Amino acid sequence: MGYLEVRNATKQFGASFLALNGVSVAVERGEFFTLLGPSGCGKTTLLRSIAGFNDLTSGEITLDGSNLRIVPPHQRDIGMVFQDYAVFPHLSVFDNVAFGLKPRKVPAAEIKTRVTQALDAVRLGAMADRLPAAMSGGQQQRIGLARAMVINPRLLLMDEPLSNLDAKLRIELREEIRDIQKQVNIATIYVTHDQEEALAISDRICVMNAGRIEQVGTPQEIYGNPQTRFVAEFVGTLNVFQPGAARDGMLNQLGLAAPDDASWAVRPERLDLVAQGSAPAGAAVLEGRVSKFTYLGREAHVQVETPAGLIVVQLANPGMAATRAVGEVVCVLVPRDAPMAFGADGARIGG
Ligand SMILES: Nc1ncnc2c1ncn2[C@@H]1O[C@H](COP(=O)(O)OP(=O)(O)OP(=O)(O)O)[C@@H](O)[C@H]1O
Ligand SMILES: [Mg+2]
Repeated sequence: MGYLEVRNATKQFGASFLALNGVSVAVERGEFFTLLGPSGCGKTTLLRSIAGFNDLTSGEITLDGSNLRIVPPHQRDIGMVFQDYAVFPHLSVFDNVAFGLKPRKVPAAEIKTRVTQALDAVRLGAMADRLPAAMSGGQQQRIGLARAMVINPRLLLMDEPLSNLDAKLRIELREEIRDIQKQVNIATIYVTHDQEEALAISDRICVMNAGRIEQVGTPQEIYGNPQTRFVAEFVGTLNVFQPGAARDGMLNQLGLAAPDDASWAVRPERLDLVAQGSAPAGAAVLEGRVSKFTYLGREAHVQVETPAGLIVVQLANPGMAATRAVGEVVCVLVPRDAPMAFGADGARIGG
């Protein structure tokens, strides 16, 4: 049994719309668990149900074995960090963090100790007396994090806490959040629609789509072994081969088979460009013409028009020599273990 368990959760809005449609997840003690999915898939709805800001239409939520749905939100001992910083502009950093302890009737001396500890944890110890207006977005979000942690919550919930920050700060702060979470060891549910952020920060990722769970797994499992076409396309990129003789010939050559209505796809980084006639045994080659070349520094993307469709090949560490001209004839190498097969319903069925 998980530390936090959500079983068969549904949330209906209006007459028939299901924002959550039979969601079950289990989060372990100390785990960094991320809900990842496109806008509108139900991430915030699930988080708010756990926090108690909305009630499920049906389903169960237990924390450490006891029913959470009957506990009022302010008694759930759950810390929450929001997308907008939600800091009080007229209160000092210290008072912003202490605010969470006020209704809990904590003695003044203990407030001082706990707030100082929380501020030190988010590296704001030296700024306790400042007003939030004089602080950067990243610093304001760290106030939010300290305020969530100061109550010693049983669970930490974060809803896209980094989405208002610029790209560089987002990467810095996500590393920091991960480090802090590992230090305090509080089970955390983190919401994002940024796949790279999810891969970087999580112990496990739960990919959601349209109110349902597509897959739960470690970052490596989600990226390297997607169980549905949705997951494969949402986390990373996917080349889907066009059905037809060219594709089937290639699959045949690789000794791969699946039902007729299956779709076959490969990740761009699993492909390579090779000289004509130099395919190693067990691999297949698709000849085509370059229709686009994009150099990105540590990688390059070569888009090739092949008889099996438009295929993007990702080359790592491309030097000058990797440059391809539009119109150039190239050979795309497809290793035997690269193609993935998905059934008509989107479920992974092979490869
Ligand atoms: N109070 C509400 N009344 C009606 N519909 C709602 C309500 N709250 C959410 N919804 C709908 O439920 C669906 C899920 O919303 P939710 O906010 O959980 O999505 P999300 O995954 O957090 O998306 P985002 O990445 O944009 O934040 C959406 O279609 C949304 O419009
Ligand atoms: Mg949301």
